[in-house]
Amino acid sequence: MTNSSKTKLVDPWNRTIDYLRIAVTDRCNLRCFYCMPAEGINYLPKKELLTYEEIVRLSTVFASLGIKKIRLTGGEPFLRKNFISLLEKLKAIPGIEAVHITTNGVLTFPFLNEMKNIGVDGVNLSLDSLNRENFHQITRRDEFDTVMKTLDGLLDHGFNTKINMVVMHGKNTHEVLDMARLASARKVSVRFIEEMPFNGSELSTSKQNWSHVKILEELQAAFPNLNKLESHPSNPATLYQVPDHLGNLGIIPAYSRTFCGSCNRIRLTATGSIKNCLYDEGVLDVKQVLRSGKSDEELRDILISTVHKREKDGFAAEKNRKVDKNISESMSTIGG
Ligand code: 5AD
Ligand code: SF4
Repeated sequence: MTNSSKTKLVDPWNRTIDYLRIAVTDRCNLRCFYCMPAEGINYLPKKELLTYEEIVRLSTVFASLGIKKIRLTGGEPFLRKNFISLLEKLKAIPGIEAVHITTNGVLTFPFLNEMKNIGVDGVNLSLDSLNRENFHQITRRDEFDTVMKTLDGLLDHGFNTKINMVVMHGKNTHEVLDMARLASARKVSVRFIEEMPFNGSELSTSKQNWSHVKILEELQAAFPNLNKLESHPSNPATLYQVPDHLGNLGIIPAYSRTFCGSCNRIRLTATGSIKNCLYDEGVLDVKQVLRSGKSDEELRDILISTVHKREKDGFAAEKNRKVDKNISESMSTIGG
């Protein structure tokens, strides 16, 4: 099939979907309190996870429908056995132009050379504190030094590197400016993310305190000459730069959801379910479809009609939730 004849995934609001986010496991070696309760979540039995063959088949069908970019997340993707082999297979799919990873950086360092050789296109590192004790408090694990080694390694290897900091009232808001200063001498994009209520338990109250507006005010007060940068319309981050700083800063209104109008992404959860939106509770059990002996052609039609059910924005998607009205899922199953 030629590029021009590719069927596109277009939703009822005329948004083209070309970006697939895949959670390869729900397991994690950290316990970030905004993501999981201290005791962890009930992990899925292995047979409930999609196999690599299933992920590659689904990604190939998605690519034939116009998906160009894939991000692998988790949980922590490097906990999945032979994760590197999955990266290799996804990079080889015709039509997939970019494969990115989101990782917490605990197990990542030993794989940097292989990742470079495979041609991984970008790495997002979750890092919520630059203080060892505070990192431990937030993640409930003492892995700060390992993660910082990974950050240095990513930059030394020349990876397109972004840092994700979830901004949490009273937990790390005093570190927002230190984190921003990381981008002064390093070519890294530091992104400040509004906390969302996906912590595997109760709702948090951060949104009232630290919205994207407040984060920007904090940055502007410290860096009065902060410039706004142009960014791609589908980028949920609004980008800024302090003149002469090597890196840049991004703010992601993940809870305020001001970016839905140009959203280009769809998600595959660790349980093998498709989400049209981070805030819906799964709109297709694609694992069941993959295991029911359907042909690629049938699978394509099912994916197309799933995208036709896409809601206008994250608020509409949230309103449609039936089972779990209060959004108590863990982000490690959804895939960030
Ligand atoms: N709110 C905002 N972001 C979250 N992430 C995980 N849980 C939450 C949450 N409750 C993001 C983190 C991490 C990525 C995998 O998902 O930024 O980097
Ligand atoms: Fe693990 Fe990421 Fe969840 Fe932290 S946010 S517990 S690193 S999956």
